[in-house]
Amino acid sequence: MTQKNENLMDKIVSLAKRRGFVFPGSEIYGGLANTWDYGPVGVELKNNIKQAWWKFFVKNREDIVGLDAAILMNSRVWETSGHVAGFNDALVDCKACKARIRADHLIEDALDVKAEGMSTEDMTKLIKENNIKCPVCAKMDFTEARKFGLMFKTFQGVTEEDSNIIYLRPETAQAMFVNFKNVLNSTHKKIPFGIAQIGKSFRNEITPGNFIFRTVEFEQMELEYFIDEKDWEKFFDYWQNEMTEWLEYIGIKKENYSIREHDQDELSHYSKKTVDFEYDFPFGTKELYGLAYRTNFDLMSHQNSSGQNMEYFDAENNRKYIPHVIEPSFGVDRTFLAAMVDAYTEEEAPTANGKTDTRVVMKFNKNIAPVKVAILPLSKKENLSKYAKEVFDMLKTEFACQYDESQSIGKRYRRQDEIGTPYCVTVDFESLEDDAVTVRDRDTMKQERVKIGELVEWLKEAF
Ligand code: GAP
Repeated sequence: MTQKNENLMDKIVSLAKRRGFVFPGSEIYGGLANTWDYGPVGVELKNNIKQAWWKFFVKNREDIVGLDAAILMNSRVWETSGHVAGFNDALVDCKACKARIRADHLIEDALDVKAEGMSTEDMTKLIKENNIKCPVCAKMDFTEARKFGLMFKTFQGVTEEDSNIIYLRPETAQAMFVNFKNVLNSTHKKIPFGIAQIGKSFRNEITPGNFIFRTVEFEQMELEYFIDEKDWEKFFDYWQNEMTEWLEYIGIKKENYSIREHDQDELSHYSKKTVDFEYDFPFGTKELYGLAYRTNFDLMSHQNSSGQNMEYFDAENNRKYIPHVIEPSFGVDRTFLAAMVDAYTEEEAPTANGKTDTRVVMKFNKNIAPVKVAILPLSKKENLSKYAKEVFDMLKTEFACQYDESQSIGKRYRRQDEIGTPYCVTVDFESLEDDAVTVRDRDTMKQERVKIGELVEWLKEAF
């Protein structure tokens, strides 16, 4: 990480806390590793991302329907999907300082090789042969690499017996496969069609997470698109394109992400082709989203394991088959982080006393900005507050608004810039005379006088 980028991440984490985007989880008790809490502004941004995704991928289309399934599922789901046996990371322990580290990350950070998917024996050998040091204490004394399951286990019922073990889901996808027939029978959809879901997933990640990039509890927005096998390449390209359009829709700059195809030895057990959308985070170029061709692995496995028929009947061609699946998979938290990094801007700007200083502006796309309009009375004088509150009441049903009358107007503008509010509406003493307000644009800082009666329309046009 370059010094500039290191500072950028520090600045974003600090702004996130200062302005109520994201707080460290359980902070007053010293925190809990890889957990974060979304604050008053953060929850709005997160909700906007989820709503925009739902609109883009579900509401605006005829071929996708939604699902909101239980997080806890019968353990046989995870045995069948391959997660119980195969969803694990190879870890090493530093014998000197007791740090537990992902072996593939240790190797990749020290050597220019791809270590994901390598056997534990090969990883142990590479670490020894190259004298790789512990990133925490700089000693070279590791245990052999061993596999650790990534799923969180708990027990259902009163006894903590193996037969009562259940798992917190590590992906939302399986609920879409398990409910394939329920959705098909209740909607009478024809292939190609998709099932979409937004919800929490859990993974026992032990490596430091780089803020909200890798957490133990996170949200996914996933889409399982059911197709005839012969069409998989066509639909793979189609969904890659849709994912690119989505990034444009939420304003992520093209130059900040790229698409990388997985090598054969990197592919998950269920996938024939996968691409990652990788974002240039300040701590490196890392996976933002995944797009996978899952074949019919999941439906076939669930059919074999449950004994329930998962076939689709193609009436036109009088043919039964188990559909194949293209899966675009998105992390809510990673979208949030990419949006924060993309939006963070520092600019020289004039101050009230005629000097200049640096203003920090979160230039979020207006689609996802947490607050759309701030209403700011110039002073706290009663008649002005009353008028400004009436403006707030008028606008709040149309836009996500914030009313703020504490501290100087300059400070309030800067606060709104830091949470990325596209428009500030200032109510001054003249407003009482001419029934007009000043609207300030976040990006250009240009101010325009707008009549109260025209304000809603003016703002609607601006968004
Ligand atoms: N159903 C396929 C699946 O779960 P994945 O690549 O493991 O594939 C999909 O996860 C997306 O979920 C990732 O691209 C990322 O955006 C998000 N994600 C995965 N693990 C995460 C974690 N520990 N913290 C935050 N987001 C995560």
